[in-house]
Amino acid sequence: MSLSRRKTLALIGGGTILAAGGWTGHVATRSPDKALAPWRVAGGYDEPRRFALSYAILAPNPHNRQPWLAELVGDDTVILHRDRTLNLPETDPNDRQLTIGMGCFLEGLDIAASARGFKLETTLFPEGEDGPTARIVFQPGAERSPLFDHMLDRRSCKEPFEDRAIPEELAFGLQAMADIVTDPDTVTALRDLTWRAWKVEAETPRTHRESVELMRLGKSEIEANPDGIDLGGGMLELLITFGMLSRQAQLDPTSTSYQQGFAIYQEMLAATPAYAVVTTAGNTRDHQIGAGRQWMRLNLATTGLGLSLHPVSQALQEYPEMAEHRQSAHDLLAEPGHTVQMIGRLGFGPAKPPAPRWPLENKIL
Ligand SMILES: Cc1cc2nc3c(=O)[nH]c(=O)nc-3n(C[C@H](O)[C@H](O)[C@H](O)COP(=O)(O)O)c2cc1C
Repeated sequence: MSLSRRKTLALIGGGTILAAGGWTGHVATRSPDKALAPWRVAGGYDEPRRFALSYAILAPNPHNRQPWLAELVGDDTVILHRDRTLNLPETDPNDRQLTIGMGCFLEGLDIAASARGFKLETTLFPEGEDGPTARIVFQPGAERSPLFDHMLDRRSCKEPFEDRAIPEELAFGLQAMADIVTDPDTVTALRDLTWRAWKVEAETPRTHRESVELMRLGKSEIEANPDGIDLGGGMLELLITFGMLSRQAQLDPTSTSYQQGFAIYQEMLAATPAYAVVTTAGNTRDHQIGAGRQWMRLNLATTGLGLSLHPVSQALQEYPEMAEHRQSAHDLLAEPGHTVQMIGRLGFGPAKPPAPRWPLENKIL
């Protein structure tokens, strides 16, 4: 994530003006090119499983943990594992969101395999829920999915959106993949709920700490660990260089950067004209995988329509301090007994660079 000059100056604290002359070159060299290489080399593999996997690793996933590990068996099978060392015990104590991320990966794999004419026979949790996530057999005979065209442009857009309504025909086209919320009362209620829930996560020391520990501050850290919450690029590199943005400051509620983070998030969450919501009738692992598949299709479809999508998951998290907001989200968005799996901001946002990824080679067992 890179910040605009305006936001960066806000983070510094308004009054401080950096002597920026001479630093322009420094900033310009701070793009984490190595961490973005998987987006450039996707598709550059002859072997069909590696071809499809090179796109699947670009799937959205919580805190960009990328918990997937692929085992290639024989000449047509992938056993997909979830690396449990990458769990998020505070913000995702039931591994629900991580499982949704695995569903996004599986859908990305399907779509990419289709571009090579392969359809996938996927068995979920073939050894039970404590074993691998899926056993996938590549078979000839698929038609190319049109969603494949958007795989390299898909983003989670963590920015304020324009004050512009979603045209009805676009919202209508997305209804097959999610509930599209545009009515003003529910949009207002969701803006308020997502903000209050975000504050709970930020003000609960152990959940906030989990996120801060996953921050990668600046190019060197991002390239060393191309995952987590990447804060780099542009003016942010200067803040990090000058020590104004640090893990320590982020853990200190009295610091300027902690407080300005609140202002930036409040502004962003408010700048939301619509929401996309994925609910499921139950909350089994299969339902969660299904929700992830749906989210991936939605995210690719919104990309194709020129719309931006941004998951905002705090209100759905399963820890005691969040229980009231989780209940409100369900009261507002789901039929009794159903589960809200994803809430996303939907609108017209700015173009964003891709998020870092580990190379495919690191994700093959
Ligand atoms: C289940 C799930 C939950 C997520 N929750 C959030 C969230 O609450 N806030 C957020 O900014 N991004 C959220 N994301 C988006 C991830 O941060 C994002 O996918 C990851 O950083 C990689 O970036 P990309 O999607 O642009 O490739 C979520 C993604 C998934 C799949």
